[in-house]
Amino acid sequence: MDYQRVLDEMLHVATPLTHQGAVADYIPELARVASGQFGVALCLVDGTTFSAGAADTRFSIQSVSKLFTLSLAYRLEGDALWRRVGREPSGTPFNSLVQLEIDHGIPRNPFVNAGALVVTDTLCSHYAHPSLAILDFLREISGAGDVNFNSAVAESEAGHGHRNAAMAHFIKSFGNLATDVDAVLQTYFQHCSIEMSCVELARAALFVANHGVVPHGGKAILTPLATRRLNAILLTCGTYNAAGDFAFKVGLPAKSGVGGGIVAIVPGQLAICVWSPTLDEYGNSVAGVAALEHFSALTAHSVFQ
Ligand code: DON
Repeated sequence: MDYQRVLDEMLHVATPLTHQGAVADYIPELARVASGQFGVALCLVDGTTFSAGAADTRFSIQSVSKLFTLSLAYRLEGDALWRRVGREPSGTPFNSLVQLEIDHGIPRNPFVNAGALVVTDTLCSHYAHPSLAILDFLREISGAGDVNFNSAVAESEAGHGHRNAAMAHFIKSFGNLATDVDAVLQTYFQHCSIEMSCVELARAALFVANHGVVPHGGKAILTPLATRRLNAILLTCGTYNAAGDFAFKVGLPAKSGVGGGIVAIVPGQLAICVWSPTLDEYGNSVAGVAALEHFSALTAHSVFQ
C-alpha cells in the first residue's frame, strides 16, 4: 500500500473543508486557534511513519485524552471499572446531563464527559499526582518527552466549566466519585489541555492497534482481550452521538476531541491521526471526518470486512 500517496490525497480532499464548521469557543482559549489547518500522520505497528500537511503542529488533544485515561484506568481497575461506567452509546451530546439522573449516576460510557470524569476519579484514587501520571504515560508511549499541558487552556476551561462541575457534583451525589470533586475536575481539565501533534498521537495510540503492546519497547499496556474491548467502545462511543454515522462512513474505532483531532485504529495494522480545528455540530472535525472517510475508501481499511 502506498500510504504516502493516500495521505497526500487525504490532504487534497480535506484542505477545501478546513474553513467549514467552527472552532470550539465554549473554552475561550480554544477559540484562538486559526482555522484553515489540516494534518495527518499514520504509524504502522512496525514503527514506519507517514505524514502530510501540519502533522507536526501540536494542538489541544481535549477528549482524545479519554482514550488514554480509559486505558490507564482499565489497566488499574480491570473489569471492576464497568460497575461504575457503562458501555452503551449515549445518543446524547458529550456534555449532556439528562441520562445521569435516570441511570443513578452511572454514566453511559467512558467517553461522554460524565464517564470520563468517573475514569479520571479512578486515576485520582490510584495516583498521588494523577495529572503527572497521565502526562508521563503519554510521554512514554508517544516517545516525545516534552509533551506538556497548556495551563492557559486548562484554566480557561476551569473558568467556564460549569457543566462539567455540575456533572461531577451530581455523580458525587450518587456516590460514584470516590475522590474530591475539585481534584477530579482539575485533573480532567489538565489532561484535556495536553498538546500533541498528529505524529505524536498516532504513535501514542499504536498499542491500541497492536493487541495492547507498545511496539517500540514491547511494553504491554492492556491484554489482547481488553484491547479488543477498548476498540469496541471506541467504535460505538468514540465520536459521541455521531458514532453511528462515523461507523457507517469510516468503519474504524476512533476517538475525537474538540481541539479538532481524531485518532483512528486499524486493529493489527496501524494508527492514524488527523487534525483540523473546525468542528461539526457534534464536536467532530469536519475536514478530519471527511479525510478519514476518504482514507477508508482508498485503502478499504474497515473493521467490517
Ligand atoms: O469537557 C470538555 O468539554 C472538554 N474538555 C473536552 C470535550 C471534548 O473534546 C469532547 N469532544 N468532542
